[in-house]
Amino acid sequence: MNTVDDKAIVKEYFNATGFERWRRIYGDGEVNKVQQDIRIGHQQTIDTVVAWLQADGNLAQISICDAGCGVGSLSIPLAQVGATVYGSDISEKMVEEARQKAKATLGEASNLSFAVKDLEALSGKYHTVICLDVLIHYPQQDAVKMITHLASLAESRLILSFAPKTFLLSILKKIGEFFPGPSKTTRAYQHKEADIIKILESNGFSSKRTGMTSTRFYFSRILEAVRK
Ligand SMILES: C[S@@+](CC[C@H](N)C(=O)[O-])C[C@H]1O[C@@H](n2cnc3c(N)ncnc32)[C@H](O)[C@@H]1O
Repeated sequence: MNTVDDKAIVKEYFNATGFERWRRIYGDGEVNKVQQDIRIGHQQTIDTVVAWLQADGNLAQISICDAGCGVGSLSIPLAQVGATVYGSDISEKMVEEARQKAKATLGEASNLSFAVKDLEALSGKYHTVICLDVLIHYPQQDAVKMITHLASLAESRLILSFAPKTFLLSILKKIGEFFPGPSKTTRAYQHKEADIIKILESNGFSSKRTGMTSTRFYFSRILEAVRK
């Protein structure tokens, strides 16, 4: 499957059934057990990243690009604590939901804006570029291009999360216990941490903090990389 196919499928999915599914998971209404588990795991990933950025003590001074922002699960709390955040997503439905959530939480905040955009079409420079749980939708050759592009936007730091390709998770994926099947979602791609680090290194970044969220159905490796 080539890039265009994957992107077209992902975009369509997140404007239709995927939008309904993920809006529920990222919301606070009633969901099934698997979705509840994914909701808890995803929130842990968000909390890890927010805690890292808050610990640095300079949030109010930095600009953040949240690429593939979904319904604003990260953009909104970061704006709430004073960062200037630009969130964007390939799905107009996700962005519409993010805008509504932001308005309900923050009112008309001047430090938060959203746009509908493929992350590879983003331009400009940001202190920090963050891309959480997006690479899972793309195979390795696309991940290389995407990370390279995101790196070109990041003045100081890039934070990524991805489904790690470990022996155990590969076996579990094969037997279908983890990662929702094609009827519910797009293909789920796992990535080797060493490959991601290699791409970051070749773009002038070295890894700093790392995190791992593991619940029963949600696995996300989080890497912070800083410009060398
Ligand atoms: C699993 S959700 C994660 C959303 C958000 N990053 C979060 O952690 O809450 C994946 C998101 O990536 C978006 N996405 C997928 N491919 C993209 C691309 N090429 N450019 C921008 N957004 C993309 C989807 O529309 C979806 O909103």
